[in-house]
Amino acid sequence: MSKRLKKSKTNNNQFLRVPRGMHDILPTEELWWDRVNKVVRDVAGFYNFHFIETPILEFANLFARTTGEETDIVQKEMYTLRMKKGELLALRPEGTPSVARAYLQHHLGRISQPQKLFYIGPMFRHENPQAGRYRQFHQFGFEILGGTNDPIYDAQVIIILWRIIEYLKIKGVALKVNSVGCKVCRPLYKRQLQNYYKSLEKSLCSDCKRRLKTNPLRLLDCKNSGCIEFKKDAPNLLDRLCASCSAHLKGVLEYLDELGIAYSLDNYLVRGLDYYNKTVFEFFVEEMEGGAVGGGGRYDYLMEILGGRLMPAVGAAAGIERLVEVMKKQGVKFVSKAPKRVFLIHVGELAKKKSLKLIEELREAGILTLESLGKESLRHQLRAADKEGVDLVLIIGQKEIFEGNVILRDMKNRLQETVSLAKVVEEIKKKFKGN
Ligand code: HAM
Repeated sequence: MSKRLKKSKTNNNQFLRVPRGMHDILPTEELWWDRVNKVVRDVAGFYNFHFIETPILEFANLFARTTGEETDIVQKEMYTLRMKKGELLALRPEGTPSVARAYLQHHLGRISQPQKLFYIGPMFRHENPQAGRYRQFHQFGFEILGGTNDPIYDAQVIIILWRIIEYLKIKGVALKVNSVGCKVCRPLYKRQLQNYYKSLEKSLCSDCKRRLKTNPLRLLDCKNSGCIEFKKDAPNLLDRLCASCSAHLKGVLEYLDELGIAYSLDNYLVRGLDYYNKTVFEFFVEEMEGGAVGGGGRYDYLMEILGGRLMPAVGAAAGIERLVEVMKKQGVKFVSKAPKRVFLIHVGELAKKKSLKLIEELREAGILTLESLGKESLRHQLRAADKEGVDLVLIIGQKEIFEGNVILRDMKNRLQETVSLAKVVEEIKKKFKGN
């Protein structure tokens, strides 16, 4: 055993459960996760977004530069790994910086403008685990990179998240929208905010004392009850936006009105990531008290920060665990018409030898086929077929093989008939069509 492993503080049997904040997605969850994946992929296809998969490990600096050196995510929550050569890698806490990095590295802008990309995958944040807050969680995200900074794109990512939530049959969604300004109007606002909070410094929590110096916008997002009180009289950025940010926000809201999407303006919504400018938004559902189910915004400066040229970009992401939890709490039911299936039963060695080939023929014909090849007795295999609730059972034994036949048993009426092996696919298709 390596020295590092010997020194590890893990107790003897601790490895038999997942680390704190991590969780398994069990077969009992399959239906929910499949549904989210399907809806995300369908919506992405409809709006012409292409799939991108980036590595889970990236250079830690990528997130320090983009998500923000002063954010909680980079300061406190990033899992980092020091490589032998001294490089510091990080388990990605979010997807946006990786997609932007991939865009620049592979010159994706040359393919088309804008690039519309989506991703689904695990993210890692060393947060305090609680309901809906994990250390490994899954997000799907949509990013529009390049093109123009037209508010129509902000509205499009909002409608995408809205539609996904709607197709997941989640009710009671509240959309909050804000603008965090730009390089022109935000510095002035930050100073005004700092001036306001300076007189209150002694009463602020330790995090806010730090934020006052390094990241004053985040003062508006503090969840500490003492600090929440001070927000009421803080200056409002919406009143101080420059003409360009004002017009942009107006444009986004007009599109949302046109689409019939209800929203409320929330000037305290500042998001926990530093790269945003202009529009920011979050989706909330009552059943998820721990936080938003999704959020995003515009990030026109991010590419420049990474060494590219100034380039408009906007995107959004949602947490799959949170969406699944809400669906469960709201008792969402999916009526899925189960596809018709057959179960192949073999009796005897010779039949077992033939069964794999027969399964392949059925698969090629598009017939969903289950089996229990490890079980030998007819009774056990029939019981397994019953448990699966299949429509038809195919039975082959020694006699059937010699005669070139197979027994077809209809599990609804328990009637069985002998069919020629050469015609079995045709026969099954006929039966599945008929009922
Ligand atoms: P975010 O708001 O940090 O944004 O995360 C998006 C969503 O991920 C949240 O609304 C929440 O549903 C889920 N989430 C975040 N942290 C956790 C956690 N610890 N446990 C469970 N779920 C969580 C972003 O990540 C940005 N990259 C979104 C974006 C895309 N902005 C522009 N493009």
